[in-house]
Amino acid sequence: MIADREQGFRKMLEKSIVENIRIEHPVVLKGQYETAYSLLKDALDTGITPCLVGPPGVGKSLLARKVAEDTGRSFHEVFFDENVTPSRLIGSFDPALVVRSGRNISSFEPGPLIRAMVEGGLFVAHELNRATEFCQNSLIAPLEERHYHLFPLGMIKSQESFAFVATQNPIETSGTYRLSKVLVDRIGCWIRLTYPTKETELEILKENTPAFNLPHSTLEKIYEIVKETRDSPVLEIPASPRSGIYLTRLVNKYFNRFDKEDAAIRFFAPAVLAKEMKVREEGKTVSMVVEEILARKLG
Ligand SMILES: Nc1ncnc2c1ncn2[C@@H]1O[C@H](COP(=O)(O)OP(=O)(O)O)[C@@H](O)[C@H]1O
Ligand SMILES: [Mg+2]
Repeated sequence: MIADREQGFRKMLEKSIVENIRIEHPVVLKGQYETAYSLLKDALDTGITPCLVGPPGVGKSLLARKVAEDTGRSFHEVFFDENVTPSRLIGSFDPALVVRSGRNISSFEPGPLIRAMVEGGLFVAHELNRATEFCQNSLIAPLEERHYHLFPLGMIKSQESFAFVATQNPIETSGTYRLSKVLVDRIGCWIRLTYPTKETELEILKENTPAFNLPHSTLEKIYEIVKETRDSPVLEIPASPRSGIYLTRLVNKYFNRFDKEDAAIRFFAPAVLAKEMKVREEGKTVSMVVEEILARKLG
């Protein structure tokens, strides 16, 4: 029984292996996204390292992925925090294989950075400002000289098309560290994203909702609630397009369960909007702020 199940799992695992994850919905390249995409591509074509700066959920990862797809590069990424070590980026030698054959090419398990360098792919360093100094230092040579000294294999030189993109949240949001000066000096193009205009965001909400079927007025109401969190002085981190998308999908799929769309929004909004929000000061909670906004907007 257990053996059958195990074998079943292995078969499914094999079927699940894909070459590359592709973007499954249209990317809206209007307004700030058109500018950002164009800058991103131009920087990479010129060998200048870009950094996408913006609050969570505005489309930084998506733009990086889109550029990789459009330029035929493989895609590799790391989400930095204080636990990410240089060997997580570079790779390491498999101890069991080292015992058998020593430290050589076949006992080396490459990390995403070395993979991108060797394949000429795109490496995305998410939240680069959260990387430890140790990690930041190990990125300098790949960025500047486009090589990495990998002991004892030797100098790994990257392919021509190897490209590096960093992302980070604006420095004001707490819980982030600073980028080291050496690294900052090597990032030549700073691309800022913020919350999109109403027109653009409505389109993003729609494009990310499979079988979109809501009246325009409902979509607008969702947008207005999301927008209201951004105008609230109490919130340090308001609701993002990402959480707007979650809300739109849920309301779109389940509004039939409710007698009015407003009731659907009321039901789902607290659970999806509060998730990523953060209040600026003590005293108010995120849930209180969401409740106030819902009461104002939905009555
Ligand atoms: N221009 C856009 N067109 C289509 N979808 C978008 C666009 N910008 C953001 N999104 C969607 O919004 C969500 C958040 O984007 P993401 O790239 O993960 O944000 P970030 O990396 O800034 O946190 C994703 O589901 C993404 O597909
Ligand atoms: Mg992201």
